[in-house]
Order: sequence, then structure tokens, then C-alpha cells
Amino acid sequence: MLVEHFMALLVIMGLTATVDKKSRPSSQYFGHLAAAEELSNLIPDNYDGLEPQFDNSTAREVIAALGTTARLHCRVRHLGDRAVSWIRQRDLHILTIGIMTYTNDQRFLARHIDNSDEWVLKVVSVQPRDAGVYECQVSTEPKISQAYKLVVVTSKAQILANRELFIQSGSDINLTCIAPQAPGPYTHMVWHKDTELVSDSTRGGIRVVSEQQMKTSNLVISRVLNTDSGNYTCSAENSNSDSVFVHIIKSEQHAAMQHELGARLELPSLALLLLAALLSALLAAPA
Ligand SMILES: *[C@@H]1O[C@H](CO)[C@@H](O)[C@H](O)[C@H]1NC(C)=O
Ligand SMILES: *[C@@H]1O[C@H](CO)[C@@H](O)[C@H](O)[C@H]1NC(C)=O
Ligand SMILES: *[C@@H]1O[C@H](CO)[C@@H](O)[C@H](O)[C@H]1NC(C)=O
Repeated sequence: MLVEHFMALLVIMGLTATVDKKSRPSSQYFGHLAAAEELSNLIPDNYDGLEPQFDNSTAREVIAALGTTARLHCRVRHLGDRAVSWIRQRDLHILTIGIMTYTNDQRFLARHIDNSDEWVLKVVSVQPRDAGVYECQVSTEPKISQAYKLVVVTSKAQILANRELFIQSGSDINLTCIAPQAPGPYTHMVWHKDTELVSDSTRGGIRVVSEQQMKTSNLVISRVLNTDSGNYTCSAENSNSDSVFVHIIKSEQHAAMQHELGARLELPSLALLLLAALLSALLAAPA
């Protein structure tokens, strides 16, 4: 490589020297200056004379829960004008080159922030078949590459409650969320009410107690009001979220609801009894 550049330098110097002789009454000094100028035109701005090199600080194994978004981070120093590609090792499919995607599977995306060293392969809605090895490849001669492993796990956060809750106004809500299969030793968990992050709420009397190591989180809302009705979602890092719908009801409504539920339970058995009576009447009837 160095030899090639040196040769290029010699050639350019030779060329400019001849041009100089014909067109410009230049001094030796001026000729050198022109040569340096032309050489810099041939070499990309960001070329700093160093070969591309992987920055080895990013995670080479990424664990993602089914259905979540996975990101493989490849960092390359001194990339210059070379391109970074992501290749799926299973079928040697070139997924991305630079920021372009070369697969019909639209779940694969290349992400890169201008002037950064980072080339990210983003996999949206991870599927079991996405598990495997991906190669981050740099278009040097010869190519250099680094392997990344994507592990797909099934993890779902779970709110330990019915899907629909009827809470009497004035009483407290205590929701517990667990994510036992969440990958990694710690799991960050957050709660949303509808689309709002509960921790951003201006309502007082809300407490979230999370145990990252135990992978549990408690949401306690004291003395609930009508406005606390809504869709409560627990999201655990690297897991699918879980939601329950909370209805705030007045005490009389609560009693009525119990009554209605009871009535609904009784109705089928009453119908069965009638049917049984009808059948036995039919069977008992002489042929
Ligand atoms: C990263 O690891 C590769 C292979 O072991 C090595 O060639 C390269 O120099 C390392 N990069 C850095 C920045 O240390
Ligand atoms: C909420 O429920 C959890 C689990 O049952 C319990 O450990 C916690 O003490 C409760 N918190 C309150 C404030 O009642
Ligand atoms: C509650 O919110 C979650 C997450 O946004 C959503 O997937 C779910 O469909 C919502 N449920 C209801 C009953 O609105």
C-alpha cells in the first residue's frame, strides 16, 4: 500500500514537473507545492494514512426477545472511503452496504450517523430464524470482517393481574410486573399509562418500586380517581410488554357489577336445566 502511494507520488511529481516546464516559469519549490496539491485531490479528505481497524469495544453477542428490535453495533476506525457491509453468515446474504439495504426483508436496516465510526444493523421485530451469526465487513483489500452473534429469546413481561381490573375510586392500585426470562443479569422496567410514561406523570401519590436484579416492578397508585382509568403497560428491557386495562368505578357500580357477573354465571345453568327437562319430557313421551 505504502509502495503504491509512493509510486503515485513519483508519477504525479513527474507529471507536474513536465507541465510546469511548459506552462509556468516555476521554481523547484512551486513544483513541489503543486504536486502536494494534486496528490491531496486523489486522496479522500478523511484519509489519515491509517488502515481501517475494528474498534473492539462493542458487544459481539446481542440478546433480543422475540418481536423486539435488535441492534448490532460495528465500529470501524480509519474507514476512509471504504464501505461497511453486514452479511448474514447462514446464507452469505449481503444485507446492507453502507447505509443501503440489499434485502427484500424490510426488517433489516442500516443505521449510521454521519461522521461517526458506528455502522449499525437494525433488525426490527426479531424472529427465531434471525438467530445466528452476522458479519460486519470492511471493503479493504483483502477484506476484514468481524462476527456478531444474535441470540433470540422468548421473554414477555407479565403483569400479575386480570386483563381488566375494576378498582373502586378512593382505593389503591398495586400492580406487579415480572419479566423472569428477560436476558441479562439486570432488567430495566418502566410503566406507561396509555402513552404517557408514569414516571413523567404530574399526579402525586404514584410510586414505582423496581428490582432490576429480581426483574420485578411494582406500581402503586394511591386513592385512585376516575382520571386514573386507562391502559397500564409494563415494559421490560429486551422483553415484550404487557398491558392491563384499569376501570375506576364508584362503590355502587362495583356492587352492580358483581351482581351482573353473578347473573351471567347463573344464566347458562338455568338454560341447561330447561333443556334437560325438555329432553326428559321428550324421551318419556310414548313413541
Ligand atoms: C480489534 O481486534 C482485532 C483482531 O483481534 C485487531 O486486529 C485490532 O487491532 C483490534 N482493534 C483495536 C482498536 O484494538
Ligand atoms: C404491592 O404488592 C407487592 C406484591 O404483592 C407487595 O410486595 C408490595 O408490598 C405491595 N405494595 C403495597 C404498597 O401494598
Ligand atoms: C394498551 O396499550 C398497549 C401498548 O401500547 C397496546 O398494545 C394495547 O393494545 C392497549 N390495550 C388496550 C385495551 O387499549
